[in-house]
Amino acid sequence: MRLLVTGAAGFIGSTYVRIAAAEHEVVVLDKLTYAGRPENLPEGTELIEGAIEDPAIVREAMAGCEAVVNFAAESHVDRSIDDQDAFARTHVIGTGTLLDAVRELGVQRYVQVSTDEVYGSIESGSFTETSPLDPSSPYSATKAAGDLLVSAHVETYGIDASIVRGSNNYGPRQYPEKLIPLIVLNALHNDSLPVYGDGRQVRNWLYVEDFCRGIHTVLARGRAGEAYNVGGPEECENLEVVKRVIELTGAEEGLIEYVTDRPGHDRRYSLSSEKLTAELGWEAQVHFDEGIEKTVSWYRDNEDWWAPIRSGEYREYYERQYGKALG
Ligand code: NAD
Ligand code: TYD
Repeated sequence: MRLLVTGAAGFIGSTYVRIAAAEHEVVVLDKLTYAGRPENLPEGTELIEGAIEDPAIVREAMAGCEAVVNFAAESHVDRSIDDQDAFARTHVIGTGTLLDAVRELGVQRYVQVSTDEVYGSIESGSFTETSPLDPSSPYSATKAAGDLLVSAHVETYGIDASIVRGSNNYGPRQYPEKLIPLIVLNALHNDSLPVYGDGRQVRNWLYVEDFCRGIHTVLARGRAGEAYNVGGPEECENLEVVKRVIELTGAEEGLIEYVTDRPGHDRRYSLSSEKLTAELGWEAQVHFDEGIEKTVSWYRDNEDWWAPIRSGEYREYYERQYGKALG
């Protein structure tokens, strides 16, 4: 089928295109923000530059498509704390614009890519799909609003749509504002390794290809109106992650620097993927030990990818966010 993938010039969407293009004809719609890079896409991918909140470009991109997978997002919590405007526009207005077009054009299937962060923080146990939405940051609050719009369009207009909620992803081509690529690149450059608060926060790490296989499974066989969690096989404290990267890069442990905590910082995320496993047979294949080794090797071997980022917008962002320059 012809499949519209929005936001696919970013980290996860570009990995997804590599899987989806083996079966489907893929067209990408992406606004090309700081995180959207055409070079992330496999050569020859059809790319339309535009925003999901623009009804005219959305209709043009969606024409002739049988299904849509929406990855388009502002994805970084810290940036949402500085300024939530683009987050609300993309996650709420943008998702609504896509859903309206799906209904008007009679597109058969829609998948919304979402996050475990919509459930908020959990002290013990794991979130299931019936856990209440309780987001903490402007990022997760606007993602939750997008999810609710999807459910409303299923109920009200009977469109065939599902929601997929992933835990923290890592792997190749992740913009270095996120913990793992930030620490890997800083370690390779002998820059300090900023750890928020006490570093004991827990994240449920999911290798990006495992998430993308989960999304593809839900696109093919997920039920309308249902959400499916896709959680990683391991949970780790941030400090453990940083220490593993130090081992793999040979950096000095003294580079760790405890910095001011993020406001409203969620302490722990944990997702149960039991529903996806029981209903659709998905299981994570890449454990953290293997995934982190692959990820560090990828960044080591792909200076062409990250050198322009570390000398551009990211450099200014880093100075603003961390109050110091990258070396
Ligand atoms: P990313 O920041 O790497 O990429 C986002 C992409 O969306 C970029 O290509 C950007 O140009 C594009 N975009 C932004 N606003 C747009 C707009 N208004 N119209 C069209 N395109 C727009 O993000 P990512 O990490 O690849 O995340 C992809 C999706 O997965 C997001 O919906 C995110 O909420 C979700 N998610 C991410 C994680 C994670 O750990 N990164 C985990 C779970 C879910
Ligand atoms: P991040 O990669 O921003 O993902 P999210 O906020 O969506 O979980 O952060 C992962 C964890 O790492 C989170 O607990 C915040 C922490 N963190 C740091 O300690 N230092 C950093 O410089 C960054 C970017 C994140």
